[in-house]
Amino acid sequence: MKPTTRLLLTALAFAAGAAVSVAAPASENWENHCAKCHGADGKGQTKAGKKLQVKDYTDAKVQAEMKDADMIKATTDGVMDKAGKERMKAYKDEISAAEIKELVAYIRKFKA
Ligand code: HEC
Repeated sequence: MKPTTRLLLTALAFAAGAAVSVAAPASENWENHCAKCHGADGKGQTKAGKKLQVKDYTDAKVQAEMKDADMIKATTDGVMDKAGKERMKAYKDEISAAEIKELVAYIRKFKA
């Protein structure tokens, strides 16, 4: 292989690696991690969402009752029921703190 080809391949590999580690946009994270339960539209009317009785994030009252700090904490550390059973898992190992903040801003936009 010619040195220039090798250099090009190295550069490409580096670019691909960098793209993987770059933060995903909130819409993508929502679709990949959250929509299964909370719905693409935030209403929670999915099969899993109905079963778990998730709140409707297009409801202004629901939005008013949620504090940003609680939303960040719920996404970071997960949500337990009163018996300590997991209702929603913690995302801190999969989604960065900065991305979680963006997800909270994304949830706020569901408000009708
Ligand atoms: C397995 C289903 C499931 C998935 C997937 C899921 N959640 Fe949840 N989520 C729940 C349940 C259940 C609750 C508790 C009931 C409620 O508040 O609606 C909850 C609650 C929340 C709350 C409410 C916290 C509060 O203060 O009331 C936020 C914010 C939230 N989820 C964000 C997310 C985000 C962001 C994602 C994706 C990274 C996500 N959820 C993925 C099931 C899920």
